[in-house]
Amino acid sequence: MSNSASPQSTQLLEEGEGATFPPGFVWGAATAAYQIEGAVHEGGRSASIWDTFSHTPGRVLHGHTGDVACDHYHRYPDDVKLMAELGLKAYRLSVAWPRIQPDGHGPGNQAGLDFYRRLTDELLEHGIEPWITLYHWDLPQAIEDAGGWPNRDTAARFAEYAELTVAALGDRVRHWITLNEPWCSAFLGYGSGVHAPGRTNPGEAVRAAHHLMLGHGLATRAIQAARPDAEVGVTLNLYAVSPQTSSAGDADAARRIDGLANRIFLDPVLRGSYPADVVADLAPVTDFGHVQDGDLEIVSTPMSFLGINYYSRHVVAAPVEGVEPEPYWRAQSSWPGSEQVRFVTRGVPVTDMNWEIDAPGLVETLERVHREYPDLPLYITENGSAFVDEVVDGRVDDADRLGYFDAHLRACHSAIASGVPLRGYFAWSLLDNYEWAWGYTKRFGMVYVDYDSQRRIPKSSARWYADVIRRNGLAAQ
Ligand code: FCB
Repeated sequence: MSNSASPQSTQLLEEGEGATFPPGFVWGAATAAYQIEGAVHEGGRSASIWDTFSHTPGRVLHGHTGDVACDHYHRYPDDVKLMAELGLKAYRLSVAWPRIQPDGHGPGNQAGLDFYRRLTDELLEHGIEPWITLYHWDLPQAIEDAGGWPNRDTAARFAEYAELTVAALGDRVRHWITLNEPWCSAFLGYGSGVHAPGRTNPGEAVRAAHHLMLGHGLATRAIQAARPDAEVGVTLNLYAVSPQTSSAGDADAARRIDGLANRIFLDPVLRGSYPADVVADLAPVTDFGHVQDGDLEIVSTPMSFLGINYYSRHVVAAPVEGVEPEPYWRAQSSWPGSEQVRFVTRGVPVTDMNWEIDAPGLVETLERVHREYPDLPLYITENGSAFVDEVVDGRVDDADRLGYFDAHLRACHSAIASGVPLRGYFAWSLLDNYEWAWGYTKRFGMVYVDYDSQRRIPKSSARWYADVIRRNGLAAQ
């Protein structure tokens, strides 16, 4: 369990202390296609599940959609210039599957592939390494109509899409991330339904999780076969999980949530097996009959790295008889078989998402993965925070976001000092953008976006990050 890490090992660098990162540490920022591109009807793109979901009344706050977003599809040359000004060494973007295969199958759509050729060329010309995520949640609607991720065939469709995207871009892109946060795709998309496609069936959520991982394994093999020089990994959203008290009931609650949030993906991908306790916890919703012989071997195809998205910690407690648990920030039905576990807030500072700020949890998470799973280079592929920003005299002074980044980079440095092979960090996010079910109401960017004029204003955190990159670490203050 993550909470068993020794106290010294989660010690952070003192605030104000300087810290230099290892040579070659990859400094980047991340975005995702649906959150920034807009231009949803251009270049032959078809609808994804997020187009359908966002246009369904009641699904997204204020009915916001990604139709225009940051208009990055048209403004990418300026956005890349901005990245270069900040000194980014790498940029993690996602490819929109419905731009490449509008009907969810068949040959690659040239206009879609050309857009990503232009974008990646622009990055390379500015000395910025493109890191591509193949699936950041925008499943072609046609594939959802055929059954979506609970349907086994979607895994094969995904591998086909990966293969043709790598055939088109593999000469200029070395780093590939198959999936972003399969937990969200499966358990928010098909369990609680707060994300697209908005289905609410716990058994389907667990099937979706398996088929996502199967798709990851098949795609990894396809990419490695096409480009032996490619580096392929997957990005998981991992949490530090701890029990509220030392009671046996709270410990069991923590075991369950750690199982459903972390180990249900870490174990199959890195060890080739499902954790037995998680399979037992899920017995009320599935018998795992959808797992076929040989699947786990594919799922655990060796990768070059693991991407970790870290935002916060889950603190949990045992169910209380007769007391309905408060729905946590992501409804109870996101935790099939463990719906009665209570998520506890501790009263520590939170971000605008109401997520508790817990930098030691990042050290804990990194050390835990390094200790319990096969040795593998690790990257933080997302980390960041939403806060309410104000433009004053044309400037945005986001001291709270800057503080969040600073604390979490100190955590990264501590983990590296204790022997974790952490090789890079991608801030979430380059730009304010479409925050899924929250629409445009949550700002995660280092760069402010005025959605009316599409003007970009680098916030204080962006200037600060540029300095961190320049000195390859944190300055002593
Ligand atoms: C992650 C997503 C990313 C963004 C951040 C805040 O779960 O991968 O797209 O929404 O959260």
